[in-house]
Amino acid sequence: MHYGADYNPEQWPREIWPDDVRLMREAGVTMVSLGIFSWSRIQPAEGRFDWEWLDEIIGLLHEGGIRVDLATATASPPPWASAAYPEMLPRDADGSIFWPGSRQAFAPSSPVYRRLASELVTALAERYARHPAVVLWHVNNELGCHLNYDYSDSARDHFRRWLERKYASIEALNHAWGTDFWSQRYTAFDQIVPPRKAPYSINPTSVLDFKRYTSDTLLELYVMERDIIRAAGATQPITTNFMGAFPPADYWKWAAEVDVIADDNYPDPNDPESFRGAAFARELMRGLKPGVPWILTEQSTNALNWRPTNPPKAPGQMAALSAQAIGRGADGIMFFQWRQSRRGSEKFHSAMVPQAGLETRTWKEVVELGGQLAQLPDLPDVSSHARVALVFDWENWWAIGGRDHPVPLDYLALAHRWHAALHRLHLSIDIVNTTSDLSAYSLVVAPQQYLLGDEGAATLTAYVAQGGSLFVSAFSDVVDEDDAFREGGFIVGLREALGVALEDFGALVPPETLTTPDSAGETATHIEGDGPGQSEAPLDGPAGRIVGQYLAEELIVQDAEILGRFTEGRTAGRAAFTRKSFGDGHGYYLATIPDDDGMLAVLRWLAGEAGVTAEIEGLPPRVEIARRGSILTVINHGTDPVSVDVPGTDVLSGSTAVRRELGAFGWCFIDTGGVLGAR
Ligand code: GAL
Repeated sequence: MHYGADYNPEQWPREIWPDDVRLMREAGVTMVSLGIFSWSRIQPAEGRFDWEWLDEIIGLLHEGGIRVDLATATASPPPWASAAYPEMLPRDADGSIFWPGSRQAFAPSSPVYRRLASELVTALAERYARHPAVVLWHVNNELGCHLNYDYSDSARDHFRRWLERKYASIEALNHAWGTDFWSQRYTAFDQIVPPRKAPYSINPTSVLDFKRYTSDTLLELYVMERDIIRAAGATQPITTNFMGAFPPADYWKWAAEVDVIADDNYPDPNDPESFRGAAFARELMRGLKPGVPWILTEQSTNALNWRPTNPPKAPGQMAALSAQAIGRGADGIMFFQWRQSRRGSEKFHSAMVPQAGLETRTWKEVVELGGQLAQLPDLPDVSSHARVALVFDWENWWAIGGRDHPVPLDYLALAHRWHAALHRLHLSIDIVNTTSDLSAYSLVVAPQQYLLGDEGAATLTAYVAQGGSLFVSAFSDVVDEDDAFREGGFIVGLREALGVALEDFGALVPPETLTTPDSAGETATHIEGDGPGQSEAPLDGPAGRIVGQYLAEELIVQDAEILGRFTEGRTAGRAAFTRKSFGDGHGYYLATIPDDDGMLAVLRWLAGEAGVTAEIEGLPPRVEIARRGSILTVINHGTDPVSVDVPGTDVLSGSTAVRRELGAFGWCFIDTGGVLGAR
């Protein structure tokens, strides 16, 4: 189990370094991420390297028994680089330059940036590849974090080459993008520009390809550095830190290139429900490389500096969120950063060593957690044994987020809401994509899967045929990989498995636009027959009466059983919830997006149908559980004490008492010794 932080010693006089190492040992730190933003100190001028300070600090850490996750320092080019080569600076869609003076001011596609980064990484890797302190390589930092999309001229050129590789001929691109509409037909790749500011709606397939290009281009940077490190003879694992469900990077694709998944995660202490979003991120990370433990490379010990308001974490909350990550497969708990900065943009951000000193709650909690982690046995088995999977798909996210749709849908927010409902039911959940191996799951939930490729449609259809229960809900299977409608209407890819088609999407007034309270102070809901302004579509079905939002689709039921019907509004009486028996399984379709209570009711009913049960029944709402092999993690994310019955042995205390008392943010790891079967 790694324990540690980003370590930025160049902020501090050298006299402090030995003290840092001593305190690290006191806190139980085992590894630090070193040099993430050190480029300007490592390379003060082009062609000149200063290794002396880095040699010294790596040596000190090594002597102190602290291992090093050595960063390649390419995340923030030094001012000399952009002064000499201003063409490496990125631009926004309006053509404005992102200037230096902050961090990450480089265009990912820039040939000059790539050359300079390669020179730095080559020198660094040749020097430290065989250093015994270095156990992990950390490429760049949060690739794409601030600069999500770059529209510079180097991006333009790189995008053209990417398109040429993808389409081979301009004719193929014209077909995929549908350029015969609005006179967009290209006769050469060199006429194409990234989706920069334009008079009106930009070709949606070009935008989708630009997002694919951006993910691939950021990944190229990772692969470039990784290959240099390997070529220098490094044998340690190599990674880069992810950011959970981060829009510009399709981590399903990235995962194959990294040796170990690393993730940064900052739940909002102001939001009492944020632990559910954190659980989503951790399940996503576990799923990216099934069977391989991952590392939480960054979280905060306490308050942040970058939200509009930055409250402290509650006492115990930092450890509870750490336990949540371990319970979902993390073998490393790390922070930004080791010692709180005294100057610069992040000086209000908490750290392991607080500016306020060691007589602080933060330091006490840091030392306590370090001690607990040191006691943990090896936890090699990261499998969740989940029988429920939630589909989360970047390509769909990019496409569904486009404009000019029946109703704007925030895919990530919806995925989080569906996940939160499963999480509230205390089900073990894996996050998958449409082409994952689904054979272990009894229930697969695929919400708002607007873009569904041929392979995804085939995988989901085969899953049902082979006995699975697939649940699909509104605005799914609308377009193919080109963001184009398929031949044969809507719901074509999954038609066999679901037995339904669609006449119309039936957009409703979205709940977030309903801001006028009525006389009772409630937000207005208008259901006026087939009149205007309808915002809700109630339906009756096996999960009781639920309320649909966003869309009340007009379904064409071909060969499915109608389980529920809309009761009011313009679709009153029409099918709303269907089931088709297909092969050995069932395909369920819900023609709307329920509110939170509706999601809970539908998923509870579906879990019952699929024979899936909670790991432990009847848990309080803020208590969560996660399974990692034979270990059950139980966490109370609330402030009221709870008691939970879990047979087994407490991994830390050795207690075998079945009743576990958990105070505010209390947690335990219970070794069930294989008592639990598949749930
Ligand atoms: C991360 C970043 C760190 C630090 C941290 C603050 O995005 O990688 O360098 O800025 O946020 O929470």
